[in-house]
Amino acid sequence: MPESSKARVTLPVANKTKAATPESASNGPGAAARTLPGLSQHGPPRWIDLLLILFLVGLALLPPIGEIHKQLILLAIAVVQLSEGKLLRAYPQRGRYYAVLLKIALATLLLDHTGEWLTINSIYYPIYYLPVMTAAMYFDTIATLLWTLLASAAFCSYLIPALREVSLDADSETQLTIRILFFFLVAIVVNRFSIELRQQASRYQTLADRLTITNARLEQAQEEARRSERLAALGQLSAGLAHEIRNPLGVIKGSAEMLVQKLQNASPLASELAGYIFSEVNRLSSLVTRFLDFARPLRAERHPEDLPKLLDRVLASVASHWQGGRVVVEKSYEADLPLIPLDENLCEQAFLNLVQNAYEAMGDAGGTLRASISRARSGARPGVELRLEDTGPGVPPELCEQVFNPFVTTKKTGVGLGLSIVSQIVDGHRGSIHLENHEGHGARFVLFFPAEPALAKNETAAAAR
Ligand SMILES: Nc1ncnc2c1ncn2[C@@H]1O[C@H](COP(=O)(O)OP(=O)(O)OP(=O)(O)O)[C@@H](O)[C@H]1O
Ligand SMILES: [Mg+2]
Repeated sequence: MPESSKARVTLPVANKTKAATPESASNGPGAAARTLPGLSQHGPPRWIDLLLILFLVGLALLPPIGEIHKQLILLAIAVVQLSEGKLLRAYPQRGRYYAVLLKIALATLLLDHTGEWLTINSIYYPIYYLPVMTAAMYFDTIATLLWTLLASAAFCSYLIPALREVSLDADSETQLTIRILFFFLVAIVVNRFSIELRQQASRYQTLADRLTITNARLEQAQEEARRSERLAALGQLSAGLAHEIRNPLGVIKGSAEMLVQKLQNASPLASELAGYIFSEVNRLSSLVTRFLDFARPLRAERHPEDLPKLLDRVLASVASHWQGGRVVVEKSYEADLPLIPLDENLCEQAFLNLVQNAYEAMGDAGGTLRASISRARSGARPGVELRLEDTGPGVPPELCEQVFNPFVTTKKTGVGLGLSIVSQIVDGHRGSIHLENHEGHGARFVLFFPAEPALAKNETAAAAR
């Protein structure tokens, strides 16, 4: 070797070996990138394993073929690469650190056994792309740059023994710098792609999760729709049946009433029995009537109404018939409430059910019934809110979800249709109702009725003025 060439760190080497460099460099990163298990925590797919083996076999077949240490190191790299998935699963936190460190160590060793007379001149230096890309796959940008710095430092560490024998000229400096800059370039590019990939994967995962939930909801909705259809058919059938029962019941009721009167003196026992028939038929008849009220399609004929007046009427009516404990009624109505489009009869029926329930809940102990009406909004809709709150025992917690369903009752003589009729009437007014239960301290029913759109507009105009 000429003296001049001996006196410097000659990074490019013999032509023959040079030809192999670009190939190994381009195979190396590409193959390694595909084998990085950062793409999948469950290990790379099998075709990638095969590709990796081919890549390493390719490196093994390049000179120096007879160097046993080189072949052993390549084997070790293959083992590390193939078992990377397991390593990450075994050490979820530290596994990626181990993987990068092992690869830097093996790359450094490989250089030691492939450099001809100066290790830094080894044509296998692109093997450092492997740890650099592994870091880029697993770490954020800053950490990737630090790892690349470490890999570059490991590579440059061979400069120390080299500089003892030779000097570093400008050409060699440039080549060394270019190699290191390429380490960083590859690190940044792979890191960007990897971050994008991770973000995209997480977006797809979120989307998939949402789809799963939506799907489950859809199935549930379909199931509920089928159930509703069955119930609707059953409801129609029952309503028809109830309608047919009502007339004969009327006849039985009338006859029993006449029998009671006729037999009163002649046969007291027969009269008493006829009395039972009368009272039971009466009960059945009111049940059928309430059921038909519930089943009848609701046609609300709405006219602007004064809600406080309507409620006052109901409160007075229930109070006048009440035979239980003393109930104090506290009213609080906001001044200048707008007129609300209501079906007077239906609303009276609804309020009657609610007030009756409140009185019945307070029973013989009596209590306080608070009735308040105020302006309110439901979303963007203006309207009024009516609250009825009693000091009874409240709705049993296990019933709270079902009180608005038909035939839910805790009363001996109750039918369980009152609240379902109320909710139907409120729905017919495009309003809403909900229960705020205070177990042991009473129940509060909150109703919202939307104001007429025309009225609402007038109000907005008035407010703007
Ligand atoms: N203010 C209230 N306080 C406590 N529980 C209530 C109140 N209002 C309703 N409930 C509970 O909800 C149940 C259902 O009420 P709903 O009015 O629908 O039927 P009901 O009053 O039992 O019978 P009916 O059909 O004769 O009205 C009642 O049985 C009662 O247990
Ligand atoms: Mg009731």
